[in-house]
Amino acid sequence: MQSWIPLVPDSASTFSWKVDALYFYLSGVTLFFALLISAVLIFFVIRYRRRTPYEIPRPIAGSHKLETLWTIIPFVIAMTMFGWGARIYFEQYKPPSNAIEVYVVGKQWMWKLQHATGQREINQLHVPVGRKIKLIMTSEDVIHDFFVPAFRTKADVVPGKYTTLWFEATTPGTYHLFCAEYCGMNHSGMIGSIIVMEPREFDNWLSGNTGNTTPAAAGQQLYQTLGCASCHGANGEGGRGPTLAGVFGKTTQLQTGESVRVDEKYIRESILNPQAQIVAGFGPIMPTFQGQVSEDQLVQIVAFIKSLPAGGQTQAPAPATSPTPNAK
Ligand code: CUA
Repeated sequence: MQSWIPLVPDSASTFSWKVDALYFYLSGVTLFFALLISAVLIFFVIRYRRRTPYEIPRPIAGSHKLETLWTIIPFVIAMTMFGWGARIYFEQYKPPSNAIEVYVVGKQWMWKLQHATGQREINQLHVPVGRKIKLIMTSEDVIHDFFVPAFRTKADVVPGKYTTLWFEATTPGTYHLFCAEYCGMNHSGMIGSIIVMEPREFDNWLSGNTGNTTPAAAGQQLYQTLGCASCHGANGEGGRGPTLAGVFGKTTQLQTGESVRVDEKYIRESILNPQAQIVAGFGPIMPTFQGQVSEDQLVQIVAFIKSLPAGGQTQAPAPATSPTPNAK
């Protein structure tokens, strides 16, 4: 849906009108004061112009009343901008818990995406309309930035950590995806599209793309081949490392007495730099897997650990964490 206002991109997410309204408010305030100040300036230039060559102006003292006024009014206006902006910011950067998750890995110069149901895409993302979509993103090399103008949202994609972005598309169609952080020679070519489909069409698309292993299942494979199970078995067998089942999203006690939330970032760090944050009651015996697993594989291991139910079997087949039925 092309906007009727020139230079404003398509509008296709639940954020769009909120961001636009704030933008129009900012533009309106700016325009109002630009015009007011210009008008007053022109008026004063004419009204108080020098009329005779040796004219000496009447001295004036400061006015506390005036100064207070022109401090308080801009302050109040600036705070409305801050408050309004902060509200939209918090809404945009706090992903809802009931969203469909998609993993994103950025690299020079392409976007690699994988759905929780296993389908992989390059520089393209198919999503259903009217559903909340959460992207869990990381980079293989430098900082990129996932930017969808039509959704009025973007977030940096940073090597060494996971960032998230969420949106809910409101109109089916194809929308631009840009990289919005200069990342080297072909930065301008790091583009793609988001294809928003009707839910039924999306389900068809999804079921037509089977034959892919889900990230969780691929993660379980890695869990076996890397030998994680010998220390991190279900219900603590192996016994040398903490149980992995059901830990995701919980808070765990560290050796240092601190506690930490087990999220994507914590799991990633524990694989690459196991000595950094050791769980209380365990020794610093885990070797690093730095250089042995790629970002894609780390994402898969994280997906696997996430999929393990509390008190469940680490060895059991990984449940496909499919938010939409993947029929066939
Ligand atoms: Cu990736 Cu710019």
